[in-house]
Amino acid sequence: MQFAVIGAGVIGAGWAARFLLMGFDVKIFDPDPNAQKIIEQTLTNARRSMPGLYDHMLPTEGKYCFCESIAETVTNADWISESSPERLDVKHKIFDEIQQYCSHKAIIASSTSGFKPSELQDLSSNPDQIIVAHPFNPVYLMPLVELVGAIETANRASSVISYLGMYPLVIRKEIDAHIADRLLEAVWREGLWLINDDIATTTEIDNAIRYGFGLRWAQMGMFETYRIAGGEAGMKHFIEQFGPALKWPWTKLMDVPELSQALVSKISDQSDDQSGHYSITDLEHIRDDNLVGMMRALKLNDWGAGNLLNTVDTQLKTMDSNLTTLLTHRNNIQTIHRVVPTTWLDLNGHMNDSHYAEVFSQASEVVLIRLGADQEYVDRGFSYFTVDMKVDFLKECNAGDVINVVTDIIIAEGKKLDLKHEMRDLNDNLIARCSQFLLHVDLELRKSCLPAEPLKSLLLNLEATISN
Ligand SMILES: NC(=O)c1ccc[n+]([C@@H]2O[C@H](COP(=O)([O-])OP(=O)(O)OC[C@H]3O[C@@H](n4cnc5c(N)ncnc54)[C@H](O)[C@@H]3O)[C@@H](O)[C@H]2O)c1
Repeated sequence: MQFAVIGAGVIGAGWAARFLLMGFDVKIFDPDPNAQKIIEQTLTNARRSMPGLYDHMLPTEGKYCFCESIAETVTNADWISESSPERLDVKHKIFDEIQQYCSHKAIIASSTSGFKPSELQDLSSNPDQIIVAHPFNPVYLMPLVELVGAIETANRASSVISYLGMYPLVIRKEIDAHIADRLLEAVWREGLWLINDDIATTTEIDNAIRYGFGLRWAQMGMFETYRIAGGEAGMKHFIEQFGPALKWPWTKLMDVPELSQALVSKISDQSDDQSGHYSITDLEHIRDDNLVGMMRALKLNDWGAGNLLNTVDTQLKTMDSNLTTLLTHRNNIQTIHRVVPTTWLDLNGHMNDSHYAEVFSQASEVVLIRLGADQEYVDRGFSYFTVDMKVDFLKECNAGDVINVVTDIIIAEGKKLDLKHEMRDLNDNLIARCSQFLLHVDLELRKSCLPAEPLKSLLLNLEATISN
């Protein structure tokens, strides 16, 4: 698929990074000479954080180029991401130019936070081609994309968004600001009032969110959370109990405080006190590391955004031929090729020793799967248990480093499996060595036993390769 990005600011650059890291080439148009710098900065952040979401290697990164005109950018593109400033007149002009040169079948996906598809499509000769694909910053990490527009185009877009590892939320009825920004704006407006009325500062409001309901929202959203709050009696009870309070004048949602110079200065001064000691790059790194950490925690529970990451991992795994072909040799087996995630670092800033062991353990799993001792084999009641493991730590590893593991089968005889792993960096420097001894076991008896088919035959074949 060929991707095009029109407007490479905060959001356009985020889209470009997502497309590139998922292996696609991207053509970019932005009249601002600074755009190349924004793309490079965003790509640096994305390369540092996005691979850490997954346990398998992302595809080889695509290539990007800047074009001189919209015409050159969109000719032959299948997906055109429009991320120009939030001004309808600017967007109309851009759509008009895009549609003069793009394929009739291409999807033109606007990142607009507020405009409805019918407003974007105004004056267009092929309106159904233009849809809203509203992402969240940083686009290379945040999964949600709200899709609004002609259902046939939205459905096609949905498959592309899923393939990119994102979550397509198709919105059935167009509405100003879609779903998420409606909710966000309600909270944001209330926050502005709390500051305006001297009830709370920016720090206090942020603390109320991040130590409180923000944590619950990240994993269950609002309604599932309230369902639990209703106890065994459930949602109905919750609404009966707290519903009447909605009529009390708690909120000022219908009113907007006047954004006077005084209020704007008050907010920005408080924000400086709160976070002024961090640079924007520091804050981006902190945000990205936290997002990766939270999503990896959800991954362990296969829940919400974590379930999505597991789906992408399965997709990446099936693309990895190393995992899908049976072993025919016993030396130099490529077992792991991945990036060190930021969540694997310890206080010294390098990869924690437990994760060296985790990588080697994953390498053994690859060998076992390729020998036929896969999930199906385990479900039949057999597996291998590690009885001895020794790791030699030779070199530091940092977040974002690519690591490769190559494994040799030293002994594959009867119940015994003796493996030797070597972890190397991209320059082939040895990072760590591991010897691991495993015994074949009967999972019901919890005792060692001889391997069953198909493992048994494959091991015999491997033995033959060593004796020849
Ligand atoms: N910032 C957010 O958090 C966010 C989140 C979701 C969606 N959006 C939406 O994404 C869109 C872009 O927002 P942003 O925050 O990235 O803005 P931005 O100001 O960071 O980027 C806009 C880019 O468009 C470029 N541009 C200006 N005129 C252009 C033209 N004629 N052709 C091509 N490019 C042009 C600018 O040079 C700039 O690089 C908006 O529609 C906005 O509503 C923003």
